[in-house]
Amino acid sequence: MPVCWLNGSFCAERDASVSIFDRGLLFGDGVYEVAAVLNGRLLDADRHLVRLARSLAAIAIPHTQSAATWLDVMQQLATQNGIDEGLVYLQVTRGVAERDFPFPVNATPTMFAYARAKSLRADANASGVRLLSVPDMRWTRCDIKSTSMLAQVLAKQSARAGGAFEAMMHVDGLVTEGGSSNLWIVNDGVVQTRPLANDILAGITRDVVLELAHASGVPVRERAFTVAQAKAAGECFMSSATSFILPVTAIDDDTMRGGEPGPVTQRLRAAYIARADRLTR
Ligand code: PDD
Repeated sequence: MPVCWLNGSFCAERDASVSIFDRGLLFGDGVYEVAAVLNGRLLDADRHLVRLARSLAAIAIPHTQSAATWLDVMQQLATQNGIDEGLVYLQVTRGVAERDFPFPVNATPTMFAYARAKSLRADANASGVRLLSVPDMRWTRCDIKSTSMLAQVLAKQSARAGGAFEAMMHVDGLVTEGGSSNLWIVNDGVVQTRPLANDILAGITRDVVLELAHASGVPVRERAFTVAQAKAAGECFMSSATSFILPVTAIDDDTMRGGEPGPVTQRLRAAYIARADRLTR
């Protein structure tokens, strides 16, 4: 029976419940994080918790639990559930209150977390995935890792219905990011991704990819690219905490590189996994 953590206590997932008046449920009024587990240990959880603090501050939910306590909760979830490879999900909502749009007075944030096993190193998608381009229908604060995600739900449902693994969201043809990932192209050995601003999430994996590229002398360009440029690029890949780096081998009906992952993508994925392995041993 999987164990989760809710408002300070561990309990069986099937015994965990929250109020129908929780603002996470009523308004999507909350933020979340997803961190990977490798070798039974959290990967880059400290960075995820820095971003959690930023997301909480951005929507004025009080920070009621220290990063050290979160780290302990997250690691215990991985351990108690016997997870060697997988993820830990955590969420904080503004809490329970009578339904009224402005912030309630004195609400206590609802906090919960759970863990899941997932194959990361031997991901079946590492041979390449298809993206489906869809208009980005989101708001102007996509830098907040908010649980208000109807636009991503619709984008990723379109992708799945179209036989694609992930959505390539764009505004008037200019790619923002994936439905739950950052997107990259490679041309003549230069790795390119959209610069950070309010229109995309500052991916933790994105940061690590930039560091790995710098460390191995791969030139990086932080500049937006179009769907057409991605289709014509030498390589394309996606990054996220739960997929690491995955080669993109098709976009819409266009197959890239004969369906083969690109060499720079494969080198970066190998470097990412080597670093992750080293940090979690
Ligand atoms: N999503 N962009 C969006 C919109 C995301 O939701 C995510 C992560 C990323 C990548 O961020 P990171 O590298 O920190 O995982 C980019 C998580 C995995 C999710 O919602 O499941």
